[in-house]
Amino acid sequence: MHDVLISQGLLAKAGERLAECIKPCRTIVVTDENVAPLYADTVMESLREAGFSPVLTVLPAGETTKCGSQYIALLETMAGAELTRSDLVVALGGGVIGDLAGFAAATYLRGIAVAQIPTTLLAAVDSSVGGKTAIDLAAGKNLVGAFHKPIRVVCDPSTLATLPPEQLAAGMAESIKYGVLFDRDLFAHLSHGAPADLTETVSRCVALKQGVVARDFTDRGERQLLNLGHTFGHAIEHCANFTILHGEAVAIGMCMAARAAVHLGIAKEDCTAAIRDALAAAHLPTETVYSAADLTAAALHDKKRAGGTIKLVLPVKIGQCVLHPFPVDRLGELMEEVCR
Ligand code: NAD
Ligand code: GLY
Repeated sequence: MHDVLISQGLLAKAGERLAECIKPCRTIVVTDENVAPLYADTVMESLREAGFSPVLTVLPAGETTKCGSQYIALLETMAGAELTRSDLVVALGGGVIGDLAGFAAATYLRGIAVAQIPTTLLAAVDSSVGGKTAIDLAAGKNLVGAFHKPIRVVCDPSTLATLPPEQLAAGMAESIKYGVLFDRDLFAHLSHGAPADLTETVSRCVALKQGVVARDFTDRGERQLLNLGHTFGHAIEHCANFTILHGEAVAIGMCMAARAAVHLGIAKEDCTAAIRDALAAAHLPTETVYSAADLTAAALHDKKRAGGTIKLVLPVKIGQCVLHPFPVDRLGELMEEVCR
């Protein structure tokens, strides 16, 4: 498993810490227009000081950047910068930049090194760790991708201080998710809103994710637990035409999963209220405005659907969840129950 360094002030030492993993080389730093003015200078200077020869490329912010045309344009920029197989891509930003730059690194010259420097809470606790990279197609999100482990993840939690509140909340949804999945103490720690210093939160979430990824890198079994709240959440994102943040949709999806677990007799404790209260304390939505019929139609497009079943992730209790294959022809009925 790749390592993840997490500490306040690490951004200024990014070059030094990457030079421990790769011989200083030509490097493309990929970032977006919001992150560049805040953090690009620090990273570029630190790479130069460590002996790297970095060039910067700044892309538009937002999910639409994770597309085929930006991917090809980035590959052309990498080729124009004459990157070779011994060179490096640095992804500086949120999950959009991490996924796009990671996928470009995975495929350019059949794979060159990538380092992730996450600057959103979601990227710090989830997308920068574990080597999933992807871009979107018109037909859906993340439909083209590769598993490509970063040589190192360098996370400076002080960068999270500049996040807009709704982006911080979206990352909190993914952080609370780890508590519901694996760790009752972490859940309690996150139940009263976002801690002022997120270093411990990021460290605990990353440690939990690294354990899962080490046991199931290619997502055949246990790693699918990380999709808690995502089947319902993806359906909500779809119905909202992606105007809702992913983390917000996952928050509502976790509440729906908790209700489904109770309804199906999977839950050993009814954790619906605890999950709802923790998410509400993090300023996240907990109820859907869409109808069961619309959500069912959207959920049936989910890529986790396999033939006649869809794999739900359901909480048994706080700190323990299970994968539960569920017949698609009964999904509408279940959706009616969990939308109440
Ligand atoms: P994002 O990358 O769009 O970042 C959110 C917004 O915050 C952007 O506008 C960005 O410019 C801005 N921003 C980033 N860092 C900032 C900072 N420190 N201060 C101020 N503004 C900042 O979104 P995201 O939520 O980080 O990531 C979402 C993406 O991650 C989705 O495409 C999703 O599919 C992907 N994802 C991937 C994985 C994986 O395992 N690869 C896991 C979860 C999500
Ligand atoms: N974000 C889910 C995973 O990495 O598997």
